[in-house]
Amino acid sequence: MRCRLECIWSPPEYKVKEIWVIERKKILTGITTSGAPHLGNMVGAILPAIEASKENGVSSFLFLADYHSLIKSQDPELTHDSSFEVAAAWLACGLKPEEVTFYRQSDVPEILELAWSLSCVTAKGLMNRAHAYKAATSQNSDHGISDLDKGITMGLFNYPVLMAADILAFNAEQVPVGHDQKQHIEMTRDIAARFNHLYGDVFNLPEAIISSKTGILPGIDGRKMSKSYNNTIPIFLGEKALLKAIRKIKTNSLEPGVPKESKDCTVFQLHRAFASKTLSDEMEKRYRDGIAWGEAKDILFSLVNEKIEPFRQRYEVIKEDKSYLENVLVEGAVKARQEASKVLEKVRSSIGIRRF
Ligand code: TRP
Repeated sequence: MRCRLECIWSPPEYKVKEIWVIERKKILTGITTSGAPHLGNMVGAILPAIEASKENGVSSFLFLADYHSLIKSQDPELTHDSSFEVAAAWLACGLKPEEVTFYRQSDVPEILELAWSLSCVTAKGLMNRAHAYKAATSQNSDHGISDLDKGITMGLFNYPVLMAADILAFNAEQVPVGHDQKQHIEMTRDIAARFNHLYGDVFNLPEAIISSKTGILPGIDGRKMSKSYNNTIPIFLGEKALLKAIRKIKTNSLEPGVPKESKDCTVFQLHRAFASKTLSDEMEKRYRDGIAWGEAKDILFSLVNEKIEPFRQRYEVIKEDKSYLENVLVEGAVKARQEASKVLEKVRSSIGIRRF
């Protein structure tokens, strides 16, 4: 928490009065609503963000990146259902909306407005270097397609600008994200610095917070758990489906009794993300002793199932009353717009878009 001394002209005496303004550290993170919320979202984003929001001196901005979802999917029902599921997941996992600012990106038009001003100071060359865009062009090249931009939308190309607008509209200072998003935060800093250079000090340069324990939760095929890879384990599967998903996790073909390497094993990494240090050490020993894959997966299932059971119950309750969740988001948007409109006022004025 930082304190700032501010002088104001205060009626009725119209004298300068000193007040201390307490500035809380602003932490912001979002989840794209392009599929069912999964364990990677829960362990990597939702739970740590809820924890951080309880710290003293922190203001948390947590949101559903629903406009981001159009980049990945153009299925309106999927975007709509996923928005509900992701929002419900935040609440089911314990978020207290009255203690944070919890909103839908699409309810805060200031974000899209800012995206335009930012895009006008963003070098196209910077966007050419974005991982997601480069991956898409190299996929075309691997398939022998001569037009490297084939099938690539401006949405995908501009993705980092929209993400920068999400962050800078609130002048957030810290952004907890997975390792794969680090480049986007670096680009946000570049864009903010360029804007400040041209127009004066408007933006903070935000910092990425990447947790080493959870930043790289693998999915069932061993790659990072991500909706883009279709390898996720959704949080709110029923017990049976959860067990089935865990049984599908790729392992090697070592027989029971043969010592196994825990370090790069997906089952072990998922277990570690949910287990205490003692439980995880115990599991490591079982690997050295040659645990059977079936048993390792059963242990993982019990652990995950136990952890998410209370969340599952709350999720079922929230699902029954959609208007409750809608109201929470509408109230969140009012709070979010209060903040974002202050920043946008500064932006507009600094770029010369102001009244005569
Ligand atoms: N791009 C992020 C992801 O796919 C989601 C996201 C959108 C985000 N806007 C953000 C995360 C702003 C942090 C801050 O994971």
